[in-house]
Amino acid sequence: MTAARSVAGSSYMHWAKTQSVSRFNLATSGLGNLSIRDLRVSLDDLELTYGGYGYEPLLQMIAERYRVDTKSIVTTAGTSFANHLAMAALFQPDEEILFEEPAYEPMLATARYLGADVKRFQRRFEDGFRVLPEEIEPCVTDRTRLIVITNLHNPSGVLTDQETLKQVGEIARRVGARVLVNEVYLETLFEASPQTSFHLGDHFVVTSSLTKAFGLSGLRSGWILAEPELARRMWLLNDVFSATQVHSGERLSVVALRQIDEIAARAKELMDRNRALLNAFLDTRDDLETVRPEFGTVMFPRLRSGETAESLCQLLREKYETTVVPGRFFERPRHFRIGIAGETKVLEAGLERLGQALDEIR
Ligand SMILES: Cc1ncc(COP(=O)(O)O)c(C=O)c1O
Repeated sequence: MTAARSVAGSSYMHWAKTQSVSRFNLATSGLGNLSIRDLRVSLDDLELTYGGYGYEPLLQMIAERYRVDTKSIVTTAGTSFANHLAMAALFQPDEEILFEEPAYEPMLATARYLGADVKRFQRRFEDGFRVLPEEIEPCVTDRTRLIVITNLHNPSGVLTDQETLKQVGEIARRVGARVLVNEVYLETLFEASPQTSFHLGDHFVVTSSLTKAFGLSGLRSGWILAEPELARRMWLLNDVFSATQVHSGERLSVVALRQIDEIAARAKELMDRNRALLNAFLDTRDDLETVRPEFGTVMFPRLRSGETAESLCQLLREKYETTVVPGRFFERPRHFRIGIAGETKVLEAGLERLGQALDEIR
């Protein structure tokens, strides 16, 4: 039996769907979901059926936003399926890939499901969770097909700059590997024309979506950026996965992208306010240690006591109606992930409860 058959699903995704919802939800990492009314859609904007490899108006809008050719774009059901399709095209079962640790578990589970021989490189708390090329270099071998990074990093929210990514690209190129950068959180920098790592060279492949920064998770509007020949292979491979896209979704994505600057402006205002709140809270807690990123929707504190955060998360949930994500889902049980993209009032109340729970376990 191959490794591909040994993955039953994603433990994090199962937890998120069944246990993360609470009165004071600090577990989610994306902006609150917009409704279809927020998008000001008219029925005339929609249609049900479209064939071919990608809806041209949507490809055009993504192409303009990232300054890429439409031939380099593959549209997908969210970043999740972008990751799946990209990795399915980028390695064969039993081939070696190098994955960051800590990692976003569903993406790691996908790599394992696809049968990768997964090796890891470390992003350490002590190094501010930065990607250090000197950590990656000794982990790469002639067998390495792919290096996988999230930018911003999930769970820490830390940004990797273009210069560092370029160095990672050089390491990959030396052994004939590619670099897959999941840029879903890069959108929370709210740049009009995001600095995607796709432009660092043909060996870079990027995944992203409208999910996290814009409250548009329900659209499932994702994409892969890859050099044209590779993108073509991904489209062909998709013929055995989902064949065609949900066309009403493609149409809605075009409607959303037309309004994206407006949506982004509201989201940025919320994020700036909420980040200040969390930073002020963290200033008062000597029982937590936190790398504090400048951008993004999450932070990943750990307990200074050295204990795991399991009892804290349980107490929070059961007594204080508040959820954060236990660090065990990110291979770091001492940590927990706080999302700051929800309503400010909810964050405020949730942080107050977090403070009470921390005092109680002290
Ligand atoms: C790193 C990362 N990639 C992908 C996703 C899922 O994105 P989507 O909803 O676009 O599939 C998430 C959601 O938490 C994520 O954190």
